[in-house]
Amino acid sequence: MTAKCRIPANDKILVLLSRFNLQWHIMNEKEIKTLYREYENTSELSDSERMLVESAADAAGKAYAPYSHFMVGAAILLDDGTIVKGANVENAAFPSGSCAEKTALSYSVSNFPDRYPVAIAITAISNGSITSEPVPPCGNCRQMLLEEELRTGKHFRVILAGKKKIFVLDSCESLMPLQFNKSNLNR
Ligand code: THU
Repeated sequence: MTAKCRIPANDKILVLLSRFNLQWHIMNEKEIKTLYREYENTSELSDSERMLVESAADAAGKAYAPYSHFMVGAAILLDDGTIVKGANVENAAFPSGSCAEKTALSYSVSNFPDRYPVAIAITAISNGSITSEPVPPCGNCRQMLLEEELRTGKHFRVILAGKKKIFVLDSCESLMPLQFNKSNLNR
């Protein structure tokens, strides 16, 4: 009986395998890298980024989160300087609730359809204060943010602001490298 192996392509391994009568299946190993910048303080951000983080914190303070007590705020900066804020809005029927990013994005797309985001800041309040670590958007929100980049044809910066650390990414796409998008629907 021959054994089946899944291995990365490598000449020496292939020679060895053939000597021992092993079948091989060559697979390609691929790597996706995501780049983000880490800061320790909002003073390291630009004025407009800092203002956006403050708007997100303000939005978080207005969250309706009686079930999780985890208050999230998102602030979207549009190309004309408008800032759209959103917070998570929970519901006794848990899945009916909305994340902060989704709240903010739904408002900006429906009220400013001709504008495009240049940045989004996301921050969260837990136990009465901003979380130490940045809070990354959930999978569902990443999918929504990605769609906005595809709708507008423009990447926008993502600022994830914790008290001790701030992560800045250049695009939503970098949060969602292996993505499902409309091109998959046509296959
Ligand atoms: N939440 C957000 O608002 N955004 C995220 O990306 C992650 C989670 C909210 C949903 C829920 O109201 C609470 O945080 C706890 O999961």
